[in-house]
Amino acid sequence: MKIKDDVFYVGVQDRTKHRFESLWSLPKGVSYNSYLIVDEKVALIDTVEADFFPQFIESIQEILQGRTIDYLVINHMEPDHSSSISMIRQYFPEVKLVGNKKTFDMVHGFYEACREDDVVVENGGTLSLGRHELLFTYVPMLHWPETMVTFDTTDKILFSGDAFGCFGALNGGIFDYQTDTDLYFAEMERYYACILGKYSAPVQTALKKLAALDIDMICSTHGPIWTHEYIPAVLQKYNDLSAGNLKEGIVICYGSMYGNAQSVAEAIAEGAAAAGVKKIIIHNLTVSDPSEVLADIYRYRGLAIGGPTYNGDVYPAVKELLNRLAGRDVSRRKLAIFGGWTWAGAAVKVITSFEDAMKMERVGEPLEWKQTARREVLENARTLGADLATAVKA
Ligand code: FEO
Repeated sequence: MKIKDDVFYVGVQDRTKHRFESLWSLPKGVSYNSYLIVDEKVALIDTVEADFFPQFIESIQEILQGRTIDYLVINHMEPDHSSSISMIRQYFPEVKLVGNKKTFDMVHGFYEACREDDVVVENGGTLSLGRHELLFTYVPMLHWPETMVTFDTTDKILFSGDAFGCFGALNGGIFDYQTDTDLYFAEMERYYACILGKYSAPVQTALKKLAALDIDMICSTHGPIWTHEYIPAVLQKYNDLSAGNLKEGIVICYGSMYGNAQSVAEAIAEGAAAAGVKKIIIHNLTVSDPSEVLADIYRYRGLAIGGPTYNGDVYPAVKELLNRLAGRDVSRRKLAIFGGWTWAGAAVKVITSFEDAMKMERVGEPLEWKQTARREVLENARTLGADLATAVKA
């Protein structure tokens, strides 16, 4: 599919994989985007997951009509984009790989596919294809340390790798204006929370670098191509997600075996609602999709976490969430804690032990109860919910 005179989309749609990175659900699939610039020299920008190589090579050959690929630009080495590199090299023996020093360390480690005539580019380096001039900018940790973006200074197209990408396969249209953008913006938040959520500071650094570019089109490796109408919203979304510009709302995450922690969670929600917060999301952690839980936590300012004591620890589903949050940048949120026990308390102690790693601001004292969460506990939970609402609204 042509996206501009001599620039083509050669990506593929994955509607069969259940989990991205074997972790994150893909109810709407995912696209692996790749792009072909057919100039005096031909450049392929990134590849696709190897399972889709037959379809990928057919698209490329149909466009090239016998021409070869001169350069394969590797913006990012995660195998969803790099696992076809060796096969591209077999089909087009003349192709030179283009990447930075860290890229080639990974090309060697993953595929042993490096060659002496490959092109190592510096940050700010350029490559001429004829009419098109490519400018390379390092954006480390978006989402691996080797990651760079490629800017076509001629057509003002930013080939951005994972950055500004989202889950969700493309359903016919490849440009934002051909799609239901609400779906892709929601999937962008979920993608960010799951994949890039640890790297807010590098994302902020990258946004400052990219601000110098006059971008007319963003071609990410996942999701639709963003055009000038939506580019400000896309950049704003990334800034909000990485700067922690959170919306007014509360996410209540709980695990519960026999209903007591659930009753406390509901009472916290009642207190918050009575205090005027409308956006309240309750996640039963043994039921909710972990990627949806993370996405909501990346959207809203308030968070309550709680559950019962289990085997001298906090309930496993709650511990799993805590581990996920400790490995991400989730600071700037207001946190309420609750936990129950039967013969020896551990839940509240374990949750509070994660506070340093999560760097959130705690609201009130942790709410703790023994065995049944009776009327007085639920009243205290409503008060905690109201205090959390006040903190979130402030
Ligand atoms: Fe789409 Fe970090 O790979």
